[in-house]
Amino acid sequence: MSSDDKAKTILVTGGSRGIGKAISLELAGKGYDILFTYNSDSKEAERTASEISALGVMADSMQVDLSSRSQIESFTTKFLEKGIRIFALVNNAGIYDGSTLNEIKDEEWEKIIGLNLSAPFYLSRNLNNSIAEGGSIVNISSVYGFRADPWAHGYQASKAALIHLTRGLAKELAPRIRVNAVAPGYIKTDMNRGGWESESFSKWITKSTPMKRWGEPEDIGRAVSFLINPSNSFITGHTLAVDGGIGL
Ligand SMILES: NC(=O)c1ccc[n+]([C@@H]2O[C@H](COP(=O)([O-])OP(=O)(O)OC[C@H]3O[C@@H](n4cnc5c(N)ncnc54)[C@H](OP(=O)(O)O)[C@@H]3O)[C@@H](O)[C@H]2O)c1
Repeated sequence: MSSDDKAKTILVTGGSRGIGKAISLELAGKGYDILFTYNSDSKEAERTASEISALGVMADSMQVDLSSRSQIESFTTKFLEKGIRIFALVNNAGIYDGSTLNEIKDEEWEKIIGLNLSAPFYLSRNLNNSIAEGGSIVNISSVYGFRADPWAHGYQASKAALIHLTRGLAKELAPRIRVNAVAPGYIKTDMNRGGWESESFSKWITKSTPMKRWGEPEDIGRAVSFLINPSNSFITGHTLAVDGGIGL
């Protein structure tokens, strides 16, 4: 067994709630220790850490605003100083902004590109040498990385670029590390609570989705677990749509 075989920690950004929490719990259930980040809600992070450790693995959380270049640097410096080895990095933290071209302000564009695209890039650059051989990076993109509405330009551009970043990094980091992405459809989280709590919109999404339901965060957790699983070691550079068919 090489020392890398012992790396059993997974770093999940935005792991305190929503999809990131479901990913963390799914991977904890598979026996991985979980280190997750959050931005603003320390109480929620504490609750999630307790739920993870109840599964019998180690859970730790760190606060970092990943839309801030300087905070990313201090986060990764602390991480490297501690000499933490990880089996996978899951770039999940993200925000949505539905502005149209004439509405979006410079700082909103920069924030969404910073968090949804630049943070996965900088974390991959700064931490790829801390990922064990045979490990993975998984980027959480979106069905809106493939399709487009006439608004949400920052969101859509960031998610499309993340898919292409996934492909390039997969080629560069192979065969040591695999890099894949997941493109969720409409998933019931706080991010689109307004959508699934509105009866008419919620029904419209259900009707438009071939599988006739909204996605649950756990659907994405299972997909990430599949991509990280070393048994799937021939899959790299792939973006797995987990969208009930709405992106078809
Ligand atoms: N929900 C969907 O339908 C859907 C569909 C396609 C793709 N996605 C993607 O899936 C990912 C997770 O989405 P979600 O629906 O689970 O979102 P969510 O419920 O809003 O959770 C967002 C998570 O990201 C963290 N976060 C927010 N701003 C941050 C910042 N500036 N720096 C660091 N962390 C930050 C939050 O921490 P705090 O709570 O502490 O702020 C929280 O842990 C995103 O990349 C999103 O684009 C979601």
